[in-house]
Amino acid sequence: MKVAVVYESTRGRTKAMADAICQGATQAGAECIIYDAKEFPGFADICGVALGSSTRMKKTLPMIKRILSELPSLNGLPAAAFGSYGWSGEAPDEIASKLSEAGASLLEDHPIKAKDFPSDTVLDQCRLLGGKLAEKCSN
Ligand SMILES: Cc1cc2nc3c(=O)[nH]c(=O)nc-3n(C[C@H](O)[C@H](O)[C@H](O)COP(=O)(O)O)c2cc1C
Repeated sequence: MKVAVVYESTRGRTKAMADAICQGATQAGAECIIYDAKEFPGFADICGVALGSSTRMKKTLPMIKRILSELPSLNGLPAAAFGSYGWSGEAPDEIASKLSEAGASLLEDHPIKAKDFPSDTVLDQCRLLGGKLAEKCSN
């Protein structure tokens, strides 16, 4: 069982958040795999998931959108949403709401959002989230 961090990113900003989440999970003792959304194999053998996308034209990027449209029943799977944005930042909110509709258990009250490149504060939040996902995986 492992933590999966799945992202789609055009300029590496959401990817930087994904890297920090997985770093936090690994530091807390979990196995963590980062997937580019187009390579995500699905939810088997996953004990926690973070899904991230930046926002483009007010929308979630297409590969994450596709994962969201095909979500299986997530039965309380610990989960979180994240993403970088420029001015409106709809994508992480859409991800969180679809995860919740599919039955995931969201670990954060609000998705983690970074305006443009994630600041050190946001990267710290991402590492903390990774730690929470790892903790859920060890229970
Ligand atoms: C064509 C284009 C459209 C964008 N549309 C939005 C938008 O509707 N809302 C928003 O918050 N940011 C928008 N952005 C800004 C990106 O979300 C922002 O640059 C983000 O940091 C990119 O992160 P990434 O490197 O992870 O893809 C847009 C950027 C581009 C290039």
